[in-house]
Amino acid sequence: MKRAMPLLPEMPRVLVLDAARPDAAGIAEAAQALRQGKLVAFPTETVYGLGARASDEGAIERVFRAKGRPAHHPLIAHVTGERDARALASSWPRAASLLAAAFWPGPVTVVVERAPGVPASLAGGGTSVAIRAPSHPVALALLAALGEPIAAPSANRYQSLSPTTAAHVVKQLGDAVDLVLDGGACEAGIESTVVDVRGPTPRVLRPGALGLAELRRVLPGIALEAPPESATPGAPRASPGMDARHYTPRAPLQVVESWDAACRTAQELASRRRGVGPVGVVVYGVTPTPMAGVVHRVLPDDPALYARRFYDTLHGLDDAGVAVIVVQRVPAGEGWWAVADRLRRASAPRAD
Ligand code: TXA
Ligand code: MG
Repeated sequence: MKRAMPLLPEMPRVLVLDAARPDAAGIAEAAQALRQGKLVAFPTETVYGLGARASDEGAIERVFRAKGRPAHHPLIAHVTGERDARALASSWPRAASLLAAAFWPGPVTVVVERAPGVPASLAGGGTSVAIRAPSHPVALALLAALGEPIAAPSANRYQSLSPTTAAHVVKQLGDAVDLVLDGGACEAGIESTVVDVRGPTPRVLRPGALGLAELRRVLPGIALEAPPESATPGAPRASPGMDARHYTPRAPLQVVESWDAACRTAQELASRRRGVGPVGVVVYGVTPTPMAGVVHRVLPDDPALYARRFYDTLHGLDDAGVAVIVVQRVPAGEGWWAVADRLRRASAPRAD
């Protein structure tokens, strides 16, 4: 039988919680859902995570399916603190203790050797495991109520924009997630900094919300992963799950050198693309005068404040139906490392 009306997209259950003091009944419902093998999206201080009980291989498999993520991309195990983290590791280097003591709960993830009991699927089949203790009260309350680690990648489709609000999660994942805990907008707005502490020299695998200057205070000799364009073509990737192309909006994104060039490029594209949809432009610091066919967004010139609004701004431009997004290049300074990394990956050419 033909349907008269198109089906509405299926919606997950969304529970709105007080971010500072989450309602115990809501947290208990979410913990119970995780125990039953369901997927629960929850806010962290960085971005929203798509949570599954870390010891439940079936639930982990559903996380990969919901995201459309290849099985060799490892997930991060979320814990309440160092004691829980040590139980997931077969060895716990001094650098891990230093980072945990200085920054947990907070936006740094350590990569250590995986303990035998940890599902290989969580680690993308590898021998290591990535672990962090998030500081968001909703995430901590959920971990405490479950009493076990939660595996959680960012709650977005593979290679797409990360979610910093519950609405972003629902938009991308629909009912592939069973329950969404809505704790408002994420404070950092960009993912955690990932540090591999297995070797003699700790190494940053992914720049993130915790800055390099802070890391150096604790680990002065810390090394940086080479950016993707300097890697030898065809060489095996040093870090699983770090694709050259990632964090992409729906609209193609291009980065241009300066504020002036960004506005000029947007205007030129708008006049060429008349009828195709507006052109989005993202600059920082100074507000441009309105341009025909161009939707502009102005972000703060402070890197932390820029990062907080970065994904949300790109989500908003996608929602406005822009055909292309032009972004002013951010400054080269270390404070901008995480945003610069995301812009480089978001503007990388499609492999297909
Ligand atoms: O802020 C965050 O880290 C967020 C929130 C939800 O905690 N999570 C997050 O997870 O960004 P995800 O899965 O989107 O990114 C995790 C990244 C992987 O892409 C990979 O680069 C790295 O962490 N990673 C995870 N496990 C690893 C491992 N065993 N070895 C090396 N890198 C790993
Ligand atoms: Mg992610």
